[in-house]
Amino acid sequence: MLDDRLLLIASMVREGAVPLDVGTDHAYIPIYLIKNGVCKKAVASDINIGPLGRAVENARRFGVEEDIVFYRSDGIKETEPERNKVTDIIISGMGGELIARIISESEYTRIPGVRLILQPMSALQEIRGYLAEMGYETIDEKLCGAGGKYYTVISAEYDGIRREVPSVRLEIGNVDLNEADPLVNGFLDSVANKYRRQIDGKRRGGLPTDFEEEMLRELREIAAARGHVIE
Ligand SMILES: C[S@@+](CC[C@H](N)C(=O)[O-])C[C@H]1O[C@@H](n2cnc3c(N)ncnc32)[C@H](O)[C@@H]1O
Repeated sequence: MLDDRLLLIASMVREGAVPLDVGTDHAYIPIYLIKNGVCKKAVASDINIGPLGRAVENARRFGVEEDIVFYRSDGIKETEPERNKVTDIIISGMGGELIARIISESEYTRIPGVRLILQPMSALQEIRGYLAEMGYETIDEKLCGAGGKYYTVISAEYDGIRREVPSVRLEIGNVDLNEADPLVNGFLDSVANKYRRQIDGKRRGGLPTDFEEEMLRELREIAAARGHVIE
């Protein structure tokens, strides 16, 4: 039932967790987690009544409507009754700015031990910077995708410590560069291509390219350490 992106998100939810899926839409993630015995209970929310109706309907169809509590909520706000139960908060398939707003508006994301599982569709550098600056520690970052289109899932927890993240790590995230996964090489190639395009564009406009060239140099170095050559 789940595609690679949703499967990767689900795989980062902890065994026995009580997940809150913010912006659940179809509710496939909580349904999958319950049907596969990862979780016994889940909370699902959406700001819009249409998706929420679809979520409830799907839960009924898969026989798990008793195991999921549904809320109509802008972000996490209206799910307050679940505050002390939720252990893992999933926010996926939305823009990075919206995800950052939802996190910043909820104190529950700052409860020690509460795990955030984030899959931004845009503004990835900004969300990584936001997490580091606001005291969330990135626990893990995983990739899926192919052919130049990659999805990243970030897991993080609040510990109040502000961190400085080098530009290249804001760009590629906390993916495990020691992992033999060939996906990582393809991902590094796609990031390098982005900087190459930026360099070309800037050169045509007579603009300085120092930053982009430095990023490209660092990406080549990172790839070389994995035995991969970025042209
Ligand atoms: C593109 S869908 C993503 C669904 C699912 N999370 C996924 O990853 O496939 C985005 C969902 O977020 C909901 N949404 C948008 N803004 C929201 C907000 N501020 N709070 C909660 N849900 C929101 C939309 O109604 C929609 O159902």
